[in-house]
Amino acid sequence: MKKIKGVILAGGLGTRLAPLTRITNKHLLPVYNKPMILYPLETLKRSGVTDIMIVCGREHAGHFMNFLGSGQEYGVKISYALQDRNNGGIADALRYAEDFVDGDHIAVILGDNIFERNFRKELASFKRGAMVFFKEMPDPTRFGVPVFNKAGRITKIEEKPKEPQSNLAQTGFYVYDKDIFQIIRQLKPSARGELEITDANNVYLKRKRLAHAVIAGLWSDAGTFDSLLSVTNEIAQRAQRAHG
Ligand code: DAU
Repeated sequence: MKKIKGVILAGGLGTRLAPLTRITNKHLLPVYNKPMILYPLETLKRSGVTDIMIVCGREHAGHFMNFLGSGQEYGVKISYALQDRNNGGIADALRYAEDFVDGDHIAVILGDNIFERNFRKELASFKRGAMVFFKEMPDPTRFGVPVFNKAGRITKIEEKPKEPQSNLAQTGFYVYDKDIFQIIRQLKPSARGELEITDANNVYLKRKRLAHAVIAGLWSDAGTFDSLLSVTNEIAQRAQRAHG
């Protein structure tokens, strides 16, 4: 099996959480009893990935380094990269991990994504192309949403569609082979001026190299006030139940 490295994307401005994010980076805000970034870090670790790069914006790089250090305390090895253009987009942030990845496969996780499950099995059987994970949601308009044809095949993934064509949301966990970097180089900025990870996934889809799975269990993108509050409450309740 080819080695899989991990990348946590923790750049961006976190404007949806302003003014909380005016001083503190979104990924360092608390989710119950720990900073948000520890959740994606633990998801990678539980998936068997311990060689991890964090891509972050320049203003808060020192905070991430100060908090996580070399990663030793968490049982992982952490490298850091800076995304020059703060809001260049998720695919733009990923570009900065190219040298670190160095031709290996990668598991990419968004720094505000909280998963109950791990991806150990999927990573162990990953061979080439890309893999994305969907979760059923009542209203997936603020996410990437797949469109299916009559044969049940995905024809495209639409980013934040006003009228979603399915009830599935694209989560922020992606697995890629080395082609991802050449694909990102060919992307054009979207209407919101960002290089979209969904556009990269659509290139894999066109090449018939995009696998997908629908996941169960807790998943949250903690990037809005409501989702941050509800995932915090959910984790708190689970902890209380676990400790009687
Ligand atoms: O959470 C899942 C969703 O994440 C997917 O359904 C969407 O397809 C995907 O585009 C993304 O949508 P968001 O609008 O929620 O992405 P957001 O701008 O909140 O960025 C998510 C994380 O990506 C953020 O916590 C840090 C990282 N990021 C984002 C940007 C824009 C960067 O590292 N650099 C960036 O420039």
